[in-house]
Amino acid sequence: MSFFPKNKTGFEDVLNQMQDFGKNDSNWRDGKTWSLVYHAGNEHSDFIKKAYSMYFTENALNPMAFKSLKRFEHEVVRMSAEIFHGAGHAVGTMSSGGTESILLAVKTYRDMANAKKGLIRLPKAISPKPEMIVPESVHVAFTKAAHYFGVKLVVAPLDKQYRVKVKAVKKLINRNTILIVGSAPNYPFGTVDPIEELGQLAERKNIPLHVDACLGGFLLPFIEKNGGDIPLFDFRVKGVSSISADIHKYGFAAKGASVILYRDMSYLKHQFFAEENWPGGMFVSPALLGTRPGGAIAAAWASLTAQGEDGLKEKAALVMKITKQIQEGIKLIKQLEINGEPEAGIFSYRSVDEQINIYAVADILEEKGWHTDRQQKPECLHVMITPAHENVVENYLQDLKEAISIIKQSPEKNKTGNAAMYGMMANIPFRGMIKKELLKVMEEMYSVSGETPTLDNQGQNDLKTIIAQKFLDLRAKFKIF
Ligand SMILES: Cc1ncc(COP(=O)(O)O)c(C=O)c1O
Repeated sequence: MSFFPKNKTGFEDVLNQMQDFGKNDSNWRDGKTWSLVYHAGNEHSDFIKKAYSMYFTENALNPMAFKSLKRFEHEVVRMSAEIFHGAGHAVGTMSSGGTESILLAVKTYRDMANAKKGLIRLPKAISPKPEMIVPESVHVAFTKAAHYFGVKLVVAPLDKQYRVKVKAVKKLINRNTILIVGSAPNYPFGTVDPIEELGQLAERKNIPLHVDACLGGFLLPFIEKNGGDIPLFDFRVKGVSSISADIHKYGFAAKGASVILYRDMSYLKHQFFAEENWPGGMFVSPALLGTRPGGAIAAAWASLTAQGEDGLKEKAALVMKITKQIQEGIKLIKQLEINGEPEAGIFSYRSVDEQINIYAVADILEEKGWHTDRQQKPECLHVMITPAHENVVENYLQDLKEAISIIKQSPEKNKTGNAAMYGMMANIPFRGMIKKELLKVMEEMYSVSGETPTLDNQGQNDLKTIIAQKFLDLRAKFKIF
């Protein structure tokens, strides 16, 4: 089979094929997904698409060539600095998303520490590895950054409210610590770490503090402006040296837009890259990517400008209204409990009834068309509210209640299908083996055949389910766990 057509295909035909490819995708249009998509209505989306298209071809690789893009980027950074109370001093760049902003922050602090401490000049064998202290709930992009940039990830535990224990962070600091991280909020639980306390600690120890506000950066400030009680997490906290915040999340921009802001240029300067000897000419680059998509930068500017403070306040109010409705509904279901005290529209809930396996609940929700993320440690389901959920509150709560009563009537659901597999996965002791299997699935997905692995019995193609099935097979074969 050949993929690359020998002959031309009409545009119309291509577009129809593309439409067809998407028919089994998660249904975000009807508010059925609880992650991945931030939809603020068709009118807003149509406008963002127009803004994107206007600068679709331009490239922010060279800010001198497209002064328009430089201006958009500058103004997005300035708007963000104002939102995070760093108007007169904070500087930064745009990036392609939360992960890039986080990678940039870690690289920046590593290089800054190297410049300060001269670690890089020590022979490799005795060179101490720089360390960063992160909460257990921190986004996995920090683990990736640690891996890419040779920084040791030191994980601090959470308290009962799913916020990092500041005392534990303090104990973990040593002379190799180059960075402390807190989230506002974290992805798994939606709780905000005690940034003020972390800030005091960071200041006392003279260690930079990065706040990962990728998820909540364009939501929390507007909840606060609406009168909500949000703990301080931005540049008003003196110890905060940088903030990452994604415009493609609650800023409702096109995908590919985030900002990384530093308190001042003394930090940002370590993010830049310059090479003077390349045959292609002298080269400088502000962020990780080479070519930087003009469309995403322009659409981010358009989204923030069109909405302004009033627009984002309205969206935040709507998100919080929906969040309250869903949380109150969940609180009425005695078998379920929300984890900790989430601050915004992101939270997770677990089962507190031994008769109800939360993963069996997820299975039933999925049968009813809800795309639901299963989490581990503790076993729970994730919810991320956007304006797209306004009209699904009743349906979701109804389906959730129904799921509980189905399981009560048919307890075998707790032990069969995906529920059993997820349960097993969460409790498997040999985590290294799981990692190996995860990587093998990637090899399959990115092989020449490129097939997304599916389970023969159910046609399921969720990555975690596939891995779980592999472990069931291994267990049957070797009887080892
Ligand atoms: C708290 C937090 N940080 C970082 C990221 C990474 O963002 P991205 O997926 O845009 O790379 C996410 C994504 O959900 C997040 O929730």
